[in-house]
Amino acid sequence: MDRADPARGRLAVLSSHLLAGVLAVVDTRTGKRYEVKVSEDGTVRATDFKKITAGKDDKGLKTYDPGYLNTAPVRSSICYIDGDEGILRYRGYPIEEVAESSSFVEVAYLLMYGNLPTQSQLAGWEFAISQHSAVPQGLLDIIQSMPHDAHPMGVLASAMSTLSVFHPDANPALRGQDLYKSKQVRDKQIVRVLGKAPAIAAAAYLRLAGRPAVLPSNNLSYSENFLYMLDSLGDKEYKPNPRLARVLDILFILHAEHEMNCSTAAVRHLASSGVDVFTALSGAVGALYGPLHGGANEAVLKMLNEIGAVENIPDFIEGVKNRKRKMSGFGHRVYKNYDPRAKVVRKLAEEVFSIVGRDPLIEVAVALEKAALSDEYFIKRKLYPNVDFYSGLIYRAMGFPTEFFPVLFAIPRMAGWLAHWKESLDDPDNKIMRPQQVYTGVWLRHYTPVRERVTSNQGEELGQIATSNATRRRRAGSSL
Ligand SMILES: *[C@@H]1O[C@H](CO)[C@@H](O)[C@H](O)[C@H]1NC(C)=O
Ligand SMILES: *[C@@H]1O[C@H](CO)[C@@H](O)[C@H](O)[C@H]1NC(C)=O
Ligand SMILES: *[C@@H]1O[C@H](CO)[C@@H](O)[C@H](O)[C@H]1NC(C)=O
Repeated sequence: MDRADPARGRLAVLSSHLLAGVLAVVDTRTGKRYEVKVSEDGTVRATDFKKITAGKDDKGLKTYDPGYLNTAPVRSSICYIDGDEGILRYRGYPIEEVAESSSFVEVAYLLMYGNLPTQSQLAGWEFAISQHSAVPQGLLDIIQSMPHDAHPMGVLASAMSTLSVFHPDANPALRGQDLYKSKQVRDKQIVRVLGKAPAIAAAAYLRLAGRPAVLPSNNLSYSENFLYMLDSLGDKEYKPNPRLARVLDILFILHAEHEMNCSTAAVRHLASSGVDVFTALSGAVGALYGPLHGGANEAVLKMLNEIGAVENIPDFIEGVKNRKRKMSGFGHRVYKNYDPRAKVVRKLAEEVFSIVGRDPLIEVAVALEKAALSDEYFIKRKLYPNVDFYSGLIYRAMGFPTEFFPVLFAIPRMAGWLAHWKESLDDPDNKIMRPQQVYTGVWLRHYTPVRERVTSNQGEELGQIATSNATRRRRAGSSL
């Protein structure tokens, strides 16, 4: 049995009475009064506002919300974040507790199926994942034919969408829209993705070193197996350092899920069209490929490098205050308190350094954190270190190239993405995602034949496209 907190449950009942109700709205344009229902979740239905119109040509009130800052397109029971309090929970379990005691595979089960597995459930889950960890040879061949310096996130995104081609049995576009109603079909795709993601990531890593992919070992833990594929060079007896494997496993736990993150929203968006799960996940990897989402820890390393030494910190902090320098790894769109993951990561950094050696930038990082946390400017703005602040240092000390950092984030996030995919399939409110827009273009005009057109000084036209010297050389020639 899970230990639920009864006090918290009572509070939830109490607050649902407080949250539910009716919002009375007076439209000052018309003087009309409307009532909009407020649900027990403390939400209003955006479509309820359509009835508020300024007149008969007005199609009704819309909410304008770029970046979806205050729009909830789904109800979800997977992950809870309270940014003001610095709380992150997976299915009700505080992140600190699962990071301390659980394993990534167990956490993936928790996210997917809602409860921690029993011993036999866990054994079955681990077995199923390891049985599906081999990547089709054709896919490995595709990875091999990519440029030698292919960005591993590009490799991962391509590989995920290629899996869709290799698994037509899992494609609703071929097998019918109801395909994913089958639990068996769903579960199979879940273990396939969790099994193959580290193997694909390892192949992308080895590609950078010009080495062939290594088959997974089904006799190791999830993180050990990943390190085994990176480092064994085909030696079947190779065993990764168990402490490093544990650190990686904890980092995987911390990155497994973060509710409606850009990439998770992307999975839900794509999945809402009914596309196969591999294509939807490929889109999520694409979202994570963006430096704003998956590249934050790399920015921290760059910043620490630029600061270079502890004695330069006061200057740097002054620079941040004058908006001349940018502080990376501090502050968060969601967390206005110490990111609970950052505390765990900081401890892991010491553990890693004790095995592979100390990264000199850690002194800069620790001193910068201390200086910032005691500075009025940062305190007032609630700028605390986030998960990215120390993770880049750990990855670097573990020998990962910076372009591989987002891959280390994508592997575990597959669990969160899949949990959301699965949840969306069962959600009675699930609809194809199709937001509104506010049209701001030309209202109406009529077609003019090309000869009658004059250059308009409004709007945009095709700019100069750079021509390479090689193209100039080719164009200078002619065909016989
Ligand atoms: C791997 O297999 C060997 C024997 O084949 C066994 O002794 C060992 O415990 C296994 N390791 C794991 C992690 O299952
Ligand atoms: C998205 O997920 C990453 C990894 O968990 C996290 O560091 C980042 O803060 C999240 N971003 C938002 C806006 O939630
Ligand atoms: C192309 O040729 C121009 C003229 O010689 C030279 O200045 C330029 O550097 C060349 N571009 C590249 C990319 O080599």
